[in-house]
Amino acid sequence: MNDCDILVIGSGAAGLTAALALAETRRVTVLAKGSLTGGSTAWAQGGIAAVLDAGDTFDNHIRDTMVAGAGLNRRETVEFVIERAPHAIDRLVELGVPFNRQSGDLHLTREGGHSHRRIVHVDDATGWAVQDALLKAAEAHPNIALLPGQACIDLITGRNQQTFSGSGRVWGAYALDEASGKVVAHVARATVLATGGAGRVYQFSTAPRGATGDGIAMAWRAGCRVANMEMMQFHPTCLYNLEVKNFLITEAVRGEGGHLLHPETGHRYMVDYDAERMELAPRDIVARANDDQIKRYGLDYVHLDISHLPPEFVRRHFPTIHEKLAGLGIDMTREPIPVVPAQHYTCGGVLIGLNARTDLPGLWAAGECTESGLHGANRLASNSLLECFVFGEAAARDIAECWDRLDDPPPIREWDESRVTDSDEEVVIKQNWTEIRRMMWNYVGIVRTTKRLERAQHRIELLAQEIEDYYGSFRVTTDLIELRNLHQCADLIVRSALRRHESRGLHFTLDYPETLPKAHDTVLIP
Ligand code: FAD
Ligand code: SIN
Repeated sequence: MNDCDILVIGSGAAGLTAALALAETRRVTVLAKGSLTGGSTAWAQGGIAAVLDAGDTFDNHIRDTMVAGAGLNRRETVEFVIERAPHAIDRLVELGVPFNRQSGDLHLTREGGHSHRRIVHVDDATGWAVQDALLKAAEAHPNIALLPGQACIDLITGRNQQTFSGSGRVWGAYALDEASGKVVAHVARATVLATGGAGRVYQFSTAPRGATGDGIAMAWRAGCRVANMEMMQFHPTCLYNLEVKNFLITEAVRGEGGHLLHPETGHRYMVDYDAERMELAPRDIVARANDDQIKRYGLDYVHLDISHLPPEFVRRHFPTIHEKLAGLGIDMTREPIPVVPAQHYTCGGVLIGLNARTDLPGLWAAGECTESGLHGANRLASNSLLECFVFGEAAARDIAECWDRLDDPPPIREWDESRVTDSDEEVVIKQNWTEIRRMMWNYVGIVRTTKRLERAQHRIELLAQEIEDYYGSFRVTTDLIELRNLHQCADLIVRSALRRHESRGLHFTLDYPETLPKAHDTVLIP
């Protein structure tokens, strides 16, 4: 049993932002599955969107976000986040993030869907610099305990306690200590969920291995509503390479002038899909165009070419990508880069309000595991890290404000392992995992049909019993925890997709190609 004031699950941008703000007055425990830098935050490349240029306005950024989001965004949330962006950047500068500068001012790059230059960045490895600065500040804070290697299994609520059964109030979480194999109850008055996205539910994804939607699945099982899970974002340009499967080529390559070309004819095909915005159209449009070219012409990949710009400019702007590609025998200053679309971001998630509260008392959530209303049907590039900072702070502020009204935790029972044994069939986990990911890629991908979604649903139902039996009979491992959550998220995605009888933003179905006049969220109620 580990007692703390506040439990934060996740050590990425959202979790550490919340922890740092809360630690001013309370004791905070931060849990991470695997290493403290294993989330998507450390992998972010392009940067963080904020209105900082004299010629830009909040209204422009709000409009771009709503256009990309195909009208499904909640305007109130969009305004809330965008107006707080300059403050979030100031805070990161204070923490020592070495953003690129030009003549003393922050350098702003450009990405798809943005009408202005407004992306602050640290070369092409912004996420690593942000993660590093947040982690150093957390490590130095006497009120923060950072615990890596803790894979949370489920939230502690009345649903899994005999003593106060029935109550939805959350009192922390059970987590597998990956080193000892023991399950520990982390008990807290307030819990913040910041577990990132569910990208690894797809066979091809730019997200790190641990992006298995654990927080979304845990919150759903505990009784939270989730929304818009069908809005899975595919990035247009993931490196095509037989060995390296998930290396992103940042949108900033197109922002700085890169072209998408048919690899055989050299045709700059975006003119056929969005002649006005070309390569800088919102992500859903560019990803669908790349997918269409690949399928229509039977290609393995399309080309992203920036070799027409001066080599020194390319090396200076994209040092990390340049080095990585050079190691694979590709010189991006002289030749095009082979790219394919891949899953990239989970727009839907646990429903939260502007104060980051979920449906359950005692549980707040922030970052990619949430549906805050910011992204709508398609996230605008570089709005995600921003959401983590704004809602990480919002959660901390709200917890601080209502702290005196939060009760002390009741007695919590230890994890019961009396009924389980060690598994002798771990190969089943691997097989189920592979099956789900391949099926989601093939049936629930960039272009959908009702028939394919129904096929996926049928397979998910078949796997459900097998996974639950396995979970009920064997000692938990991180792989098993992830498989159970991955399966849960696949189910939520398919159910949401089947409910949406239109095409909007990231959800494109041949059976309902039109967009309905009125946008509505797909809200699933447990
Ligand atoms: P994460 O950073 O993913 O952190 C999740 C945390 O939760 C981790 O610490 C993990 O260990 C922990 N966790 C998960 N499950 C459990 C569990 N069961 N138990 C305990 N802990 C758990 N966005 C931008 O705005 N700009 C960009 O330039 C950008 N580039 C990107 C590039 C790539 C390659 C990718 C994949 C994403 C990019 N994004 C970008 C998106 C952005 O990085 C993420 O949305 C954001 O970092 C999510 O932060 P988070 O704090 O919500 O979660
Ligand atoms: C990128 O650098 O292309 C990713 C930006 C984002 O996902 O916001």
